[in-house]
Amino acid sequence: MREKILISTGGGDAPGLNAVIFAVVKSATRKGWEVYGSRSGYGGLLDRDDLVRLSPEDVEGILPIGGTILGSTNKGNPFAMPVENLAGEIQVIDVSDKIMSNFKRMGFFCHVAIGGDGSLEIAHRFAQKGMPVIGVPKTIDNDLEATESTFGFDTAVSTATDAIDKLHSTAKSHDRVMVVEVMGRDSGWIALYSGISGGADVILLPEIPFSLDAVCEKIADNELHDKHYSIVVVAEGAASEGGKVMSKGKGELGRDEMVLGGVGEWVAAEIRDRLGKDTRSLVLGHLQRGGSPTTFDRLLALRYGAAAVRMAEAEVFDHMVAWTPPTMTSVPIADAICRRKKVDLSSDKVLTAREIGICLGD
Ligand code: F6P
Repeated sequence: MREKILISTGGGDAPGLNAVIFAVVKSATRKGWEVYGSRSGYGGLLDRDDLVRLSPEDVEGILPIGGTILGSTNKGNPFAMPVENLAGEIQVIDVSDKIMSNFKRMGFFCHVAIGGDGSLEIAHRFAQKGMPVIGVPKTIDNDLEATESTFGFDTAVSTATDAIDKLHSTAKSHDRVMVVEVMGRDSGWIALYSGISGGADVILLPEIPFSLDAVCEKIADNELHDKHYSIVVVAEGAASEGGKVMSKGKGELGRDEMVLGGVGEWVAAEIRDRLGKDTRSLVLGHLQRGGSPTTFDRLLALRYGAAAVRMAEAEVFDHMVAWTPPTMTSVPIADAICRRKKVDLSSDKVLTAREIGICLGD
């Protein structure tokens, strides 16, 4: 019997999460279903206090709000969860069976899991254990396969572009090179879109190992053409030819991913040493994850949420909602997480960058 539906938000937050929740709650309630939200990923299936009933009144006004009203975590893998034992030691245990039995006991017929590749992989593992799961693709990185775009990406690009715009005047006033490090993990979507739109001179992507010679040549060429300042946009996952991606280690306990960062500062120091130019670097960091979603992301997120409820009604499980313009479709979750979506180097966006004179480090 279709009566109770569960919704959770896992992994790093992204602008638009609340719009998905809004659409699921409004649409499912209109079908006569009850919607429950699980706080901090699967928390609500481990502890009843972390389960919250969501009525249409509860979601009024949340569309423009960034983050997620449910909270999120990227160290909450129920298949390998760090817990403290009685002796105060940390043990990694599998709580997936407990979650499965609580899900059934609580009478849910479906779980809408909003997440990036890590959270969707966990959702897929639960689907294989028998949980009827529907995935909704979220990440500012836009690195999920099988969907044109994830929600949150447009807002992150907009924030990064705005920041790059603002750097032009100060770079120009001081004849400086400004190096901006943006997020995106191993994919260069945010760097490429914001770098082109923000009028960068150099964009360094994880997809193209870069040569510092090429970067310095571009900056020197700017000088020759009487442009005494330059803007360099570096994706956090970019690496020099033969070099390694820079990271700050694993971060919190129970986290699988490395925390990337440091490449912007390193590139800035190399430019300063090689060219003797006054150079500054900045890391945009979590600014890109914050704030109100753009109209584009809001609408996309609402469409994802409404489509997820349609899929629940049609009982299309272990699938993710996919945006294949102009329509919303569904794809097996396995197809969306099989690899990370990278920038296509033969795409017209990359060609555009090259044709307008942007150096891509190669
Ligand atoms: O996946 C989204 C993302 O913002 C990446 O771009 C970034 O590398 C990572 O999350 C940062 O994670 P955290 O919030 O744990 O530092």
